[in-house]
Amino acid sequence: MAQQGFAAVDVIRAKRDGGALTDEQVDWVIDAYTRGEVAEEQMSALLMAIFLNGMTPPEIARWTSAMIGSGIRLDLSTVGRPTVDKHSTGGVGDKISLPLAPLVAACGAAVPQLSGRGLGHTGGTLDKMESIAGWNPLLSATSMTAQLAQVGAVICAASADLAPADRKLYALRDVTSTVESIPMIAASIMSKKIAEGTDALVLDVKVGSGAFMKDRESARRLARTMVELGAAHGVSTTALLTDMSVPLGLAVGNAVEVAESLEVLAGGGPADVVELTLALATEMVALAGLDADPAEVLASGRAMDRWRAMVSAQGGDPDAPLPAPKHTRVVTAESSGVVTGMDALAVGTAAWRLGAGRARKEDAVQYAAGLLCRAKPGDAVNAGDPLFELHTDTPERFDAAIAELAGAVTIGATAAERPGIVLETVRG
Ligand code: URA
Repeated sequence: MAQQGFAAVDVIRAKRDGGALTDEQVDWVIDAYTRGEVAEEQMSALLMAIFLNGMTPPEIARWTSAMIGSGIRLDLSTVGRPTVDKHSTGGVGDKISLPLAPLVAACGAAVPQLSGRGLGHTGGTLDKMESIAGWNPLLSATSMTAQLAQVGAVICAASADLAPADRKLYALRDVTSTVESIPMIAASIMSKKIAEGTDALVLDVKVGSGAFMKDRESARRLARTMVELGAAHGVSTTALLTDMSVPLGLAVGNAVEVAESLEVLAGGGPADVVELTLALATEMVALAGLDADPAEVLASGRAMDRWRAMVSAQGGDPDAPLPAPKHTRVVTAESSGVVTGMDALAVGTAAWRLGAGRARKEDAVQYAAGLLCRAKPGDAVNAGDPLFELHTDTPERFDAAIAELAGAVTIGATAAERPGIVLETVRG
């Protein structure tokens, strides 16, 4: 739809001076930027003005609608099962999509997990899945719908015509230090999820050092904003606020996180990963209106069967050995006591330095890179005991990773009792 034209400088000035943009200004600026008519430097200035001055709820709603309208909205009505998806705001060791999608499929829903790649210290689901030999992240809308109907779960890349405005804006936010803005994160996530066509959505809003939202109140505001945007677009949405002050599980990286996910699907795995997988699955099953017990389905092995079907349907070999690192190194404890804290951001950054993530979008990741936590908060350690096992194919990366980990672990006399991983639930 052709939009009434505006001068970009007037839109920037309105926001710079603390005003609210009109619906027409929002529609125009998103459309004109997507088409290349608004220059990168102009959008950069507008993003910084939004970052500093915020947006009103009507502005956020309109910005989200305009981003959805910049591309196609998928129609999943032919899938024949209720569709429900999960989205995490991004964390360290967050491999939950891998066990969760097949688990919820085994409960009877269809899970259309359109996923992204890692940038910075947070990992990307597609990078992890690509450590499986032969696995293909690129599916057409027709293949995705067919797989959802047959297998019940798909993890794949979002096509370029799904919320293209977000694709451009996200890349610009990343290089202009404007990512951590509640209106921008809410609009970015919800435009993609609404365009994806899911009936229902569960959001995992991370709180803590390894998350974009460092404190509970900001995370709560982000969660409420997204739940309201979902409701306004007919997508039943629930958000869980979950702890990201320490890494999730023991594995951080690509292949190591696939291996840990397989442990969960086989009935084992670290307690926090299992707890969060089941908490999210329970919400998803409820929103889908299904009568299934995710814990019972996980224990039955049916989720593992769905995983194998999901991987095979996309050309992956579920039995192929995962890539092993060419070099490993161990970081040890300097004193004896109990681990009282572990900084998720430092651990995520160390895994990134080892080659698990990329510094620029076009960089390749190392599938075998990452690290294993050998102790977590609450564990007793002696001086010299292993804290981390580092994995990389390029050993010159060890020094930078070890530097990130200096001071990441605190050791004291007693560790405080840790609350459960789910801190709060925000429902629509
Ligand atoms: N994930 C997204 O998709 N967008 C954001 O802005 C932040 C996290």
